[in-house]
Amino acid sequence: MGVSKEEAAKRIEELRQQIRYHEKKYYVDNDPQISDYEFDCLVKELEQLESLYPDLITPDSPTQRVGEQPVEGFPSVVHSIPMLSLDNCYNQEEFLEFVQRIEKLLPGEKIEFVTELKIDGLGIAIIYRGGHFAQAITRGDGFRGDDVSANVKTIRSLPLSIPLQAEVEVRGEIYLPFSSFEKINQEREAKGESLFANPRNAAAGTIRLLDPREVAQRNLDVFLYYIFVNGQSQESQWQNLQLLKELGFKINPHVRLCGSVKEVIDYYEYWKDRRDDLDYDVDGIVVKVNSTRQQQALGSTAKFPRWAIAYKFPARQATTKIIDIKVQVGRTGALTPVAILEPVQLSGTTISRSTLHNEEEIRRKDIRIGDYVLIERSGDVIPKVVSVMKERRTGQEKPFSFPTRCPVCGSPVFKPEGEVISRCINPSCPARLRESLLHYASRRAMNIEGLGEALVDQLLAQKLVQSIPDLYHLKKEDLVKLERMGPKSAQNLLDQIEASKHQDLARLLYALGIRYVGERTAQTLAEHFQSLEALSKASLEELLALPDIGPKVAESIVFFFQQKENQELIRRLKEAGVRGEAKVTTEPTAQPFVGLTFVLTGELEHYTRDEAREIIERLGGRVTSSVSRKTSVVIVGRNPGSKLQKAKDYNITIWDEEEFLRQAGLEK
Ligand code: IVH
Repeated sequence: MGVSKEEAAKRIEELRQQIRYHEKKYYVDNDPQISDYEFDCLVKELEQLESLYPDLITPDSPTQRVGEQPVEGFPSVVHSIPMLSLDNCYNQEEFLEFVQRIEKLLPGEKIEFVTELKIDGLGIAIIYRGGHFAQAITRGDGFRGDDVSANVKTIRSLPLSIPLQAEVEVRGEIYLPFSSFEKINQEREAKGESLFANPRNAAAGTIRLLDPREVAQRNLDVFLYYIFVNGQSQESQWQNLQLLKELGFKINPHVRLCGSVKEVIDYYEYWKDRRDDLDYDVDGIVVKVNSTRQQQALGSTAKFPRWAIAYKFPARQATTKIIDIKVQVGRTGALTPVAILEPVQLSGTTISRSTLHNEEEIRRKDIRIGDYVLIERSGDVIPKVVSVMKERRTGQEKPFSFPTRCPVCGSPVFKPEGEVISRCINPSCPARLRESLLHYASRRAMNIEGLGEALVDQLLAQKLVQSIPDLYHLKKEDLVKLERMGPKSAQNLLDQIEASKHQDLARLLYALGIRYVGERTAQTLAEHFQSLEALSKASLEELLALPDIGPKVAESIVFFFQQKENQELIRRLKEAGVRGEAKVTTEPTAQPFVGLTFVLTGELEHYTRDEAREIIERLGGRVTSSVSRKTSVVIVGRNPGSKLQKAKDYNITIWDEEEFLRQAGLEK
């Protein structure tokens, strides 16, 4: 390459500007302007020119994010302005007390608040001098932190140069998106390494890695929320955020300026219910008095500012003790170990049990009776044990040995080669019957309201029911003898049972509890076979030809109908009047969404999520919860979550509600 130094210097500057622009577009704005390939070409060209003239390399060149050498450690540094922590509150009453304290100190003044999400990550301070990245320091104890500059520099959304020459210090939160966290844990599991309990721990582990090249692989990210220019804040927190944005920093898109306390509470309620839509963990909101003058008037205690507070969401993780491990038998005969816990508050409810999944899981996590454990609940799923706090062991903990006989009926248990789940071999095990009845009656199956655990237990204990079809022979005079059962509720139950006879075939198939036949598969089978009779005669080949039905499912269906006791079950149901009627469809058979996978994000105006899902499925589409490269369409409502950004990143078709309704032929 015959490039003179002057030419190289000029081109290097051009390339840096272009690369910085595209990095910002990609990592900060989620709005890529060029392909990855084109971007890589720019970086390669810059690398080549810099290797030709190494003295033109500057530390803030985009090629210098990842240092080649491991660092020697993290020197301790004093913060020029202490990094205070935040006082917490946990409910509306406590939050209103905070507001009252402020109002008292600022009599008669109008107070605006800025609300932000409280990112569950690591506090960081980043210093720029002369427009260049100079140093990044962890929060530490608030007065002194560790210099982690080399690692923070690898965060691609963070600009290494900014259009402001002054001494600038920005503060924010380093975090690891859930998607990256899961990937890291999968890799660790494959290598047999211990897993990180949550994204925060993973981020903390990552920021202390000695090799920046490794850090760069981990996809850390940062939201900034504070800026000092020559040690001074702007006139308000809102202006701080705007300035950060103007300078090219990534601020959280969900910040809000609130003119009233009600708006703050609405913001809290809104995000409390939607935190799961975000690709990062938030543990509450942070409420800040907007005006800097008011902030100064309010001042700080030794630990906390008086002008801000963290209003926490109900915790999703908690520690508690395992008092015992019991084994439950499900409707397929599967034995599931369950930890009996010292009761603990989690996401607003008291938790006293947690599933341990299977024997293998107990071994892998080395869970013992008497252990202190970290439990977690995400979304509305049942809580699970995340990890054992081995450092709290006293030596009194007892390892658990998995039973070789069914704890309910005493029959031997069987674990097929290569499977992790043990099953009771007795098809008429009472535990299986109990669970089968509950499933049969459940809302999405035959929907027999009132037939819950307490009633099923009584029916079994009184031997009024010994198989599912027995439900259809229950008599009012038997029912009224049961506890808490008057003539009125007995009649209601009988009416409900009677009504269930007319449930359609798809529900009946699902209700039968055939292994691997969930609601969707049941739907497919019902549509194709139209009757229980036809399905019971289906061959493997015939089943395999259907969409979404693989060998495991097909074999399970054939096996189910081969069993004598199931044939008897179906005969008796039919006799009782349960036919599993095929749905009479007056709808057109056209299914415009066949083969398409949808993801929903944000609130729709005309439908709930469940309704939207039903529409999509009726038209042949599928709905999944997270955006991947396989997603065909993302439907975006009001206040969408990070799924929208992901859809843009992957170049996935995006529909707003109106477009969705148009495509579904449902224009309003
Ligand atoms: S403001 C004096 N804003 O939460 C102001 N902090 O529990 C202090 N955090 O140490 C920080 N998101 O690391 C602020 N939007 C946000 C935040 C936030 C997360 C962290 C921060 C702080 C800790 C306090």
